[in-house]
Amino acid sequence: MLATTALLLGIAQVGAAYSVSEILPVQDPIPVWPGILPVQDPIAVWPGEELYPPFECPSALSTPEFNPVGSLSAVRPDAYTTLTHPLFTRHSVRIKQSTDFCDTTVNSYTGYIDVDAKHLFFYFFESRSNPDKDDVLFWTNGGPGCSSQLGLYMELGPCRVVNATEGPKFHPESWNSNANVFFVDQPVGVGYSYAEHGITVGTTEEAADDIAAFIAIFFENFSSFKGRSLHLAGESYGGRYIPLFAAAVYDQNALLAAVGGTPINLTSGIIGNGFTDPAAMLPSFHAMTCTPASLPPVLDISTCVRMKKALPRCQKWYKTACVDQFDSMSCHAANAFCETELLGPYELTGGNPYDISKSCEDPDALCYPVTNSIVEYLNRPDVLDALGVDPHVRGFASCSDSVAFLQSADDLRPSVDYVEGLLERGVAVLIYVGTYDWICNWVGNEQWTLDMDWSGKDAFGRAPLRAWEVDGAVAGKTRSAAGLTFATVDAAGHMVPYDKPKQALALINRWLAKEPL
Ligand SMILES: *[C@@H]1O[C@H](CO)[C@@H](O)[C@H](O)[C@H]1NC(C)=O
Ligand SMILES: *[C@@H]1O[C@H](CO)[C@@H](O)[C@H](O)[C@H]1NC(C)=O
Ligand SMILES: *[C@@H]1O[C@H](CO)[C@@H](O)[C@H](O)[C@H]1NC(C)=O
Repeated sequence: MLATTALLLGIAQVGAAYSVSEILPVQDPIPVWPGILPVQDPIAVWPGEELYPPFECPSALSTPEFNPVGSLSAVRPDAYTTLTHPLFTRHSVRIKQSTDFCDTTVNSYTGYIDVDAKHLFFYFFESRSNPDKDDVLFWTNGGPGCSSQLGLYMELGPCRVVNATEGPKFHPESWNSNANVFFVDQPVGVGYSYAEHGITVGTTEEAADDIAAFIAIFFENFSSFKGRSLHLAGESYGGRYIPLFAAAVYDQNALLAAVGGTPINLTSGIIGNGFTDPAAMLPSFHAMTCTPASLPPVLDISTCVRMKKALPRCQKWYKTACVDQFDSMSCHAANAFCETELLGPYELTGGNPYDISKSCEDPDALCYPVTNSIVEYLNRPDVLDALGVDPHVRGFASCSDSVAFLQSADDLRPSVDYVEGLLERGVAVLIYVGTYDWICNWVGNEQWTLDMDWSGKDAFGRAPLRAWEVDGAVAGKTRSAAGLTFATVDAAGHMVPYDKPKQALALINRWLAKEPL
């Protein structure tokens, strides 16, 4: 929904324009087999310009061109090491080691995923426990258009920044406690990521291709990670990113296997306060503000009555125009109606969309003034230097313009079918939700997990919703069956690890250990 997206961006968007023709997501063509062509300079080669030999399915990975680095310790701190993969001639990865940065108890790295003229920035922190054995976790924030560095420095990273001058401070409840963790600024144009020639990415499908290639290159080249369990995690609009990214990684395995590569051991998808099923969210805005779903109702009775009356019309219109058969103009109009009637009333109260227990402290800083310090820190010239940020990048912002995503109506598409597809193939899924979040609340998220059409539907629906605990105190409720787990985190807002670091770490550690919550 536009309103949701606008709010996730911290932008009040009124009466957004929409185009008349339907805009379908731009799909990359089916990857062409590169055969045994030598790896080419990724920027010099443009898609469609390559002349590939006919498909012969050679074992590209055993040709002399493939020469894995083997160990991350071979990566140097003073210069980038470039990783390439014979299967992905358009992609390569630049990586360098960080020294004395953020978490001095582990090795850490920064770098770029280069895809033609697109360059995605990432951090990699080794696990604090056993980097040679622990799982790998990929993290992205949402938006669309928000930097994963908010997740790093505000939520689950090995250090936090609350004062730009003082810089990062060790964060004991970091998710690298028991996992090797990536933070990726994606798509291009977000955070330190950039593109040449004014190129932008406007759909999650396109973003997914780049992430899947990055993961293949990384695991193939750093052989010590081969076969290691991988978890893809994200928050908010990550509820759309993660199902599509995970599906792309899963489907790519056939390609890797065909050339003698090691498949990626995709173990789970993890979504925090996600935006996965827009239709399921519609009734939840009434529930969150007009019923004691989490806190006593915040809106007055007459407003709630009006919302309730508008709901059936909104749902019917949304289903017809956005779900059953996508029609861009009608879907945007349905969305605008739903937004005005169902989201408008709470927005007008000045409440924090990410936490109904709070008012919005600073609308220009996503309601969390600490993001100002993070932005200031990430614009410090010495920090840009230390991290190896490309000179092309001019300034860091928490969130950037996501016009291309809105134009392609990426934000109006349901992503539930991808979740279903992953579960049916044995990829586990964790949906966790802070109970005070309004914008991507627990009511709507619980609803779609119950409604989803898959072979585990009955078992999941019958599973009891029980309390889960941390240090003997109730932390939330959870339900689990057939690889799917739903969990609430009591009194946490949209950014669960920010509000409840201890509970969030317990949740993730138990999930990684495959223990019940
Ligand atoms: C892995 O990285 C090394 C070091 O840059 C490079 O020489 C090698 O070609 C890469 N191999 C693959 C398959 O990417
Ligand atoms: C940040 O830290 C510096 C140095 O300790 C201090 O002078 C400054 O007042 C702090 N800034 C804020 C906004 O707290
Ligand atoms: C994937 O990782 C799990 C551990 O989480 C391991 O048990 C399994 O053998 C791995 N699978 C492959 C194909 O390496």
